[in-house]
Amino acid sequence: MDFVRVTTAAMLGTLIAVCWFHSTARAGEQSGKQQEDAAFIERLIGQMTLEEKAGQLTQLGMLVTPTGPVVDNKGQKPIGIAEVGSLLGVYGAEVTRRLQREAIQGSRLHIPLLFSHDVIHGFRTVFPTPLAEASAWDTDLSQRTARAAAVEATASGLHWTYAPMVDIARDPRWGRVIEGSGEDPFLGATLAAARVRGFHGKGFPDTSTILSTAKHFVGYGAAEGGRDYNISEMSQRTLEEVYLPPFRAAVEAGVDTIMAGFNEIDSTPMHANRMLLKDKLRDEWGFQGPIISDFNGVSELMQHGVASTTQEATRRAFNATIDINMASADYATELPALVRSGQLPQSLIDDAVRRVLQTKQRLGLFDDPYRYSDTTREKALTSMPRTRALAREAGQKSIVLLKNEGALLPLPKNLRKLVVVGALANDAQSTLSFWSAAGRAEESITVLEGIKRAVAPGTHVVYVSGASPESLDTSGIDEARRAVNDADAVVAVLGETADMSGEARSRASLDLPGAQNALVAQLHSTGKPIVVILMNGRPLAIPTVDKQVPAILEAWFLGSEMGHAVADVLFGDVNPSGKLPITFPRTVGQIPLYHAHKNTGRPPDKANVYTSKYLDEEWTPLYPFGYGLSYTTFTYGVPKLSQRQLTFDETLTVEVEVHNSGQRTGDETVQLYLRQDVATITRPVRTLRGFSKVRLAPGETKTVKFLLDQDDLALLGDKLLRFVEMGTYQVFVGGNSSTDNGASFEVMTSAQLPERYPAIPHLPHESAQR
Ligand code: BGC
Repeated sequence: MDFVRVTTAAMLGTLIAVCWFHSTARAGEQSGKQQEDAAFIERLIGQMTLEEKAGQLTQLGMLVTPTGPVVDNKGQKPIGIAEVGSLLGVYGAEVTRRLQREAIQGSRLHIPLLFSHDVIHGFRTVFPTPLAEASAWDTDLSQRTARAAAVEATASGLHWTYAPMVDIARDPRWGRVIEGSGEDPFLGATLAAARVRGFHGKGFPDTSTILSTAKHFVGYGAAEGGRDYNISEMSQRTLEEVYLPPFRAAVEAGVDTIMAGFNEIDSTPMHANRMLLKDKLRDEWGFQGPIISDFNGVSELMQHGVASTTQEATRRAFNATIDINMASADYATELPALVRSGQLPQSLIDDAVRRVLQTKQRLGLFDDPYRYSDTTREKALTSMPRTRALAREAGQKSIVLLKNEGALLPLPKNLRKLVVVGALANDAQSTLSFWSAAGRAEESITVLEGIKRAVAPGTHVVYVSGASPESLDTSGIDEARRAVNDADAVVAVLGETADMSGEARSRASLDLPGAQNALVAQLHSTGKPIVVILMNGRPLAIPTVDKQVPAILEAWFLGSEMGHAVADVLFGDVNPSGKLPITFPRTVGQIPLYHAHKNTGRPPDKANVYTSKYLDEEWTPLYPFGYGLSYTTFTYGVPKLSQRQLTFDETLTVEVEVHNSGQRTGDETVQLYLRQDVATITRPVRTLRGFSKVRLAPGETKTVKFLLDQDDLALLGDKLLRFVEMGTYQVFVGGNSSTDNGASFEVMTSAQLPERYPAIPHLPHESAQR
């Protein structure tokens, strides 16, 4: 019997990284080099004009496809590269070197530029989208893909990525659900920290270290109605318990910058939200890095209706501690006037400029402005075979087996005739998905290609498009039906195109778009064995497909190696192990639907009409959070607790035996949920508090061990202070969030815990992931 440990003591190490700016600022404790560096920055600030300072706080957007209106500086003299602090959306060792030279030679004080871009899930080699990768529940994997993305991006001249996106999202209508880690703050916080660590690698001044950004601070994922850019409405407690923890974890992992969200909270747009940016992030959490606006977000304070001029918008944003204005010239034009008229103190501008210059100094750009722009390194480090292999591995681990009736999967490789159906099967661009950075469709393996490469030489693979997500045209369905008639098996690739999820890609429906449902119905009527492979950026409502089709693989968008990864799982070279990081509803009408919901005073009860449910639909999800099957089966023992009663400061040990009762080796993500039966405030029916991935050979049993301490038990009680309350609690341990495999215990004493912010979930111990 093996022991797999999930320890709760891993946070300590990450705390060290929180205050790197602090540590350089404290006189007396600084090393000689630090003092020299600080003096250099102060001298530079002392030489700068107000205009030069405002320029450092301005970022020009050079995106090929801007995500908002491209703002010019209102007809005034165009701003030159040498007059700003950073650029967005430009990369390539050669071009960044050229632009850097322009900035250095063209500016009076020769201050280097920062080059930034959205490196969200890979760069030239594209990895699974963050939501897909979250299905692996694998911190080590997320750290490694972030590292590999950083290696490629920095070799291409980039200093700064706008990732990780750590917004919790519980409404799949919101297209940006694809960019984050799903609905749960524990999983979200864990992966946020892993990605920050990955982007950093060895840390500065290593030239493969990239500046990371936690975005979009905060609550952007709660956009009302799932409509992008909409307002978010939530209680302070929900903000603290659900939406802030991943940001807190990113800060503790040493994230370099934070980006504000387009949303408002409590009637204050985030770009003017001093209470959250200044009081919470800077003062309470001690975050000292630069805070950047989102694309044109400062100027949009006027549309929000909290500023009537660009000058007022600038003043409000700057006062809220937004240091850098993205894709806008407003800071460059307005900040000097605001200081001269006494509306902003010069010292505030200096503070912001200091943060920007210190960042450039950490990157070593004052010593060598071109150190990230090296064409030889770019060539050597781009699309390396090991990076492609990592993309394939990440793809395999991100796939979730949703259904496998009659053990239809895995398919044998030597079928006589295999028919592949669906426009997405042959759509290379869609494998890459939104925010594909420097990814190239021609370098990506489609599902069709992956299948063709995997099957035995004698297998006849026939491809028919049949139907597309983009059109209601059903005229191709007949051809698909005919092709399927003499097939041994059918693989239907269904879902969304790359362009259907991502920013500004909200959908009012979660159904399969276009004529795809009609295609499935026709395929089903042939009686052939059908496997559905889903390609999508959000949970889809697929109750009919679930009824009609025996096998379903959720493959999301897996990036450059998608076709290989899908074929690996489809034909059983790899046993699927993904678990959903977000609930799949039966219909859009159930949204919001998430596992950590409240019980209500009238929990759903089929026998009682006056309970919380629907007349026309079940209240339960189609697939719950944490759900995912394997080609083998796992059975769980009852959780064993170290004690049934404990005081608030004791640590409870929960052990559970997990047994592989099937015929193949498989990986299982063991999940621990906690419930407090009665509290002073209502609590979720269950809250994820731990997970651990174990590999089990057929017949093998392992004991998985979790530790729960006061931070895991704490709630935000009166005045949002943290308490451990007396009373009974239950733990549930199993393979998804609906498990009933539980045990109860009692906390005999209560206490207020010292810190004001919510219990940040303890990060699983690294070694527990293997
Ligand atoms: C998005 C950000 C992104 C920025 C720059 C904005 O529209 O909201 O997430 O980092 O564009 O591309």
